[in-house]
Amino acid sequence: MKVAIVTGAARGIGLATTRQFLTKGWRVAMVDWDGDELALSAKSLENVITLTYDISQTQDVARIVSQTLDTFGQIDALVNNAGIADFGPIEQTDFERWRKVMSINLDGTFLMSEAATEALKKTKGAIVNIGSISGLRASTLRVAYGTSKAAVIHLTKQQAAELGEYGIRANCVCPGPVRTKLAMAVHTQDIIDSYHDAIPLNRYGSEDEIASVITFLCSSEASYVTGQIIASDGGFESTGVGLPALRT
Ligand SMILES: NC(=O)c1ccc[n+]([C@@H]2O[C@H](COP(=O)([O-])OP(=O)(O)OC[C@H]3O[C@@H](n4cnc5c(N)ncnc54)[C@H](O)[C@@H]3O)[C@@H](O)[C@H]2O)c1
Repeated sequence: MKVAIVTGAARGIGLATTRQFLTKGWRVAMVDWDGDELALSAKSLENVITLTYDISQTQDVARIVSQTLDTFGQIDALVNNAGIADFGPIEQTDFERWRKVMSINLDGTFLMSEAATEALKKTKGAIVNIGSISGLRASTLRVAYGTSKAAVIHLTKQQAAELGEYGIRANCVCPGPVRTKLAMAVHTQDIIDSYHDAIPLNRYGSEDEIASVITFLCSSEASYVTGQIIASDGGFESTGVGLPALRT
């Protein structure tokens, strides 16, 4: 049975990804710093372990990898999904606010990948990083969040370039808006309406619609796919002019 580490697995896209892995017969190390929500979400699940750690802390990251290996013996996929969103104007984004977003979204993704590489070499495993449409297209209020996700996108290409030699694949999934706790904390009704106008499919995505792309990229069905940035976004990224006035 294959083994995945999924960070940010207590809820949202990470929990949906965990469930899809289990349905496909994988075992999952569920990582989240919110221990209570993690325990609650894992309660009814089999073939999982829960690891309550902060992915931005080097000592925590080492424990995540060693405890996964102690329990399951191998790592076939690492899904770097844990992240935070913080929308604010450039002029109100001080260094502390900037660093908080970077330390989790970017540093955490880097640290987890570094720590898991040795184990992934043994399985010729896969890394899937979670970017965002905010990393593909610039926007207001996202100087820290958007830049962190753009960096995750490039980090993915760096990983694919260097780790391909070991048979490790690295890809990035960029979700469009999904009604998770993270998004609902920063999406006002105005933002929700504007997204609808700018998305060809004219709706938010679901957690499962993102998770299915993630689990596909981790599977052997994607064995020749690496270094790719795949938006699961209802067409948002491909649409240059999403003006409501141009809709029929
Ligand atoms: N929901 C969206 O609209 C959307 C859009 C684009 C990208 N994303 C990305 O998808 C990923 C998942 O987001 P979601 O919407 O499911 O959010 P969510 O808030 O529902 O889930 C994120 C989980 O990550 C955990 N987490 C955050 N920081 C952590 C840390 N330092 N260590 C361990 N766990 C941590 C949280 O406790 C939470 O359970 C994020 O990287 C986010 O940026 C989401």
